[in-house]
Amino acid sequence: MSTRFQAPRGTQDILPEAQPYWLAIGEAIAEVTRLFGYRRIDTPVFEPAGLFEKGSGDTTDVVEKEMYVFQDRGGESLALTPEGTPAICRAYLEHGMGSWPQPVRLYTTHPMFRYDRPQKGRYRQHTQFDCEVIGSAGALADAEVIQLLWSLHRRLGISGLEVRLNSIDDLEARRGYITRLKDYYRPHLDKLSEDSRRRFERNPLRLLDSKDERDFPYKEGAPRLVDQLSPAAAEHHATVRAALDAAGIPHVIDPFLVRGLDYYNRTVFEIVPTHDERAQGTLGGGGRYDGLVELLGGPPTPGVGFGAGIERAILEMQRCGAEVRPPTGPDVYLVHMLSGLATPIVELASSLREAGLAVVVAEAGRSMKSQLRSADGSGARLAVILGENELAAGTAVVKDLRGESEQASVALSDAPGVLAHRLRRS
Ligand code: HAM
Repeated sequence: MSTRFQAPRGTQDILPEAQPYWLAIGEAIAEVTRLFGYRRIDTPVFEPAGLFEKGSGDTTDVVEKEMYVFQDRGGESLALTPEGTPAICRAYLEHGMGSWPQPVRLYTTHPMFRYDRPQKGRYRQHTQFDCEVIGSAGALADAEVIQLLWSLHRRLGISGLEVRLNSIDDLEARRGYITRLKDYYRPHLDKLSEDSRRRFERNPLRLLDSKDERDFPYKEGAPRLVDQLSPAAAEHHATVRAALDAAGIPHVIDPFLVRGLDYYNRTVFEIVPTHDERAQGTLGGGGRYDGLVELLGGPPTPGVGFGAGIERAILEMQRCGAEVRPPTGPDVYLVHMLSGLATPIVELASSLREAGLAVVVAEAGRSMKSQLRSADGSGARLAVILGENELAAGTAVVKDLRGESEQASVALSDAPGVLAHRLRRS
């Protein structure tokens, strides 16, 4: 028995009817990045596995549980990119971007791979719109990336969103808080979920991020870092908030927001639909990562950015009934009744395409009726019919498929100009 393959679990084919959404998002991304002065970068789909183990953090779920790691035939350990930030920082260092005018504003759209439990909005391959500002320590850069992501969603017709914002201070200043957090949780350890008990040892800040109901009562009473920030981080946080207010971006402080990657300091944020209580459908998230470039072997270089899932944005666009341009059919559907005579068909189609018209050639050997039915179904504006009689007369018949004008005859040599003119007019 032959085997029928299917797309791997957690991946999806993006069929032609879904493409208008991708096109709309691609155009909106091009426009907002232009308005904010970001330049595009593309990094490889796979990278050295160590880049993420070190950069994202080897105790994070993304690296520890979800990363696709493999050895290539040369024995090198590689990973399919699970998140873009370490890859972009690697490129920043590799190409000496530290000597460019700072900060460097970069963006990409890139497939990401995570061995996650697939469900709606959560896939094993997703595509992220990722923006990074590298080389700025200023709070205005934090507000800028939030504003950029906010404007993208506005432009896409997605409403009912809010920004959740928190500050997790700087690494050094955080140490005292982590001790207090552990002291608080220690007496409750045996009542916490297995995941939280593990986090208590390996990554205590993430205790606050638990989605397990057994942990909720303890989370509520946990000490809140955002209320006890160091003076520098507190000032930074206040400036980010003031800048968001000035940009008219509603935001709420979420003291439990810590994010799932290790490199963050100070600002962390997510954009979530307000109807989404448990932030399962987070549209995008990010924050500041002032230690990451140095961790990857570069000089101390601050940075801030976000990633936003395009598939999730599409789900929200559909939920909000956002309008996208429907796919357009070809300009011309070429119907032909010339048994065995390929040349005139190819010549006519080529000359029309040369004139900039989109042409689909009907399947040979079908009846005229069947070909015209296909022409109608294709969404084409015009059918051009080429039969034995027309060919002998050096003409073709032009039929307006939207019934806006009478059927007419056109000389083959004039067809490109006449049809291009006619299509431009209507
Ligand atoms: P992240 O929160 O892991 O951050 O992912 C960013 C966004 O990607 C999420 O908010 C979500 O929209 C989307 N996403 C993540 N995982 C999946 C999935 N399995 N299926 C569908 N969509 C998903 C980062 O990756 C950081 N690199 C963001 C960043 C950039 N921080 C600073 N700069």
